[in-house]
Amino acid sequence: MNNQRERWGSKLGFILAAAGSAVGIGNIWKYPHMAGQNGGSAFTIIYLICIFLVGLSIVIAEFAIGRKTQLSPVGAFEKLAPGSYWKYVGFLGVASAFVILSFYGVVGGWILKYIIESLSGGFSSLAGNPDASSAMFGAFVESTWSPLIYQLFFMGLCMWVIINGVKGGIEKWSSVMMPLIIILLAVLAVRGVTLEGGMKGISFLFNPRFEDLTPSSIVLALGHSFFTVSLGMGTMITYGSYLEKKQNLLNSALWIIVIDTLIALLAGIAIFTTVFALGANPAEGPGLIFVVLPSVFTQLAGGTIWAAMFFILLFMAALTSAISILEVQTAYLIDQKNWSRKKATLLFGSIVTVIGMFCSLSLGGGINITGFLGESFFLGETFFDVMDNLSSKYMLPIGGMMTAIFVLVKWKIPGYLEELSTGVDGYAINAGLIKGTLIFAASVVAFIIINELAPFF
Ligand code: TRP
Repeated sequence: MNNQRERWGSKLGFILAAAGSAVGIGNIWKYPHMAGQNGGSAFTIIYLICIFLVGLSIVIAEFAIGRKTQLSPVGAFEKLAPGSYWKYVGFLGVASAFVILSFYGVVGGWILKYIIESLSGGFSSLAGNPDASSAMFGAFVESTWSPLIYQLFFMGLCMWVIINGVKGGIEKWSSVMMPLIIILLAVLAVRGVTLEGGMKGISFLFNPRFEDLTPSSIVLALGHSFFTVSLGMGTMITYGSYLEKKQNLLNSALWIIVIDTLIALLAGIAIFTTVFALGANPAEGPGLIFVVLPSVFTQLAGGTIWAAMFFILLFMAALTSAISILEVQTAYLIDQKNWSRKKATLLFGSIVTVIGMFCSLSLGGGINITGFLGESFFLGETFFDVMDNLSSKYMLPIGGMMTAIFVLVKWKIPGYLEELSTGVDGYAINAGLIKGTLIFAASVVAFIIINELAPFF
């Protein structure tokens, strides 16, 4: 094997890096519009239950598998269950990374474009006019070259951070960006709450509307609780593999989930207070960020600054998440194939960028492949949507469920507890509770996956 494994520089650095992975487009873009369309805090309550009852136990399991084996997913499962099929759970994770990062990189590019537009005053003609804003967004994502160039730029940045390594790349950037994200969001939230009529946004977000909560919103909440804490593809296994035994895994996992949830709520507050104060449509759905916000921020005094702040913080959140996905791919080649970090990053980073280009082109960008990748690609979904749904509805929940089952039936509770108790002093871990939550997590996910797949049969 090659030299020493890379390590995090500090306990806090690890937490910020893992929270950086968790906090992403999922928190700032997906969560607010999902809550807006699915019953406000009724959705949030279900999501909180999912994240604390299902998500938490799987985050802990992923950390433990990584730290125990000091390997990324494929090698980790192989080491704990030599010669078995379990390593395919690791491969599923690497495959999921390709699927997620392909479209994530495209959205990352959109964000870059929006930073530049806001700084250059490109939004000023959109003030109070969501239709114009929608037309501008549509024209951009449906064009051929411009989104590709921004995506390339975003992916290039990701590769550059990853080439700089665990401590010098991931940890360094996350430690700078996480505090900035919180500060910028807090400023935007305070601005929103103090606008006249802003408080209506708070009641929209926090009043439960159970009548808007459908069974599919519950599935959505569970899927989102996986996506938002980066579960089910071995991101947390990989990040855990750079840990030394001193870290308290239980505390760290709790911190990460709490930070992730607070940032999602803060994003919801910042967005809905502003949207309500300026009388825009809160139930806009996925267009909330790219369509509604440019038209509302520009109505405020200093609109350019508010819009730029928002897209800059969204960019930082997206970057610290995207790198964590790329790291899973890179670490596979480093751990299993003994490749150098640079070569591994460049190869897998380039492949995923090319897949992402097809996602982008599937939205309407010419060169005649749209007919094939566009809305008729699969059951009325574009290639972009297929990659998004395939990962969040199937691959991640299956990966997470298999991880929980792995700990229960293969690694087994005593071995797992031994790993968990390293770094935890002062209190005893309740074996029954740990086992119970894992069984509960695996069953809930299995139930949901079966429900999701049922319509296909
Ligand atoms: N959690 C990130 C978000 O909320 C996305 C993400 C990063 C992710 N790494 C992941 C999702 C791994 C699933 C698996 O935007």
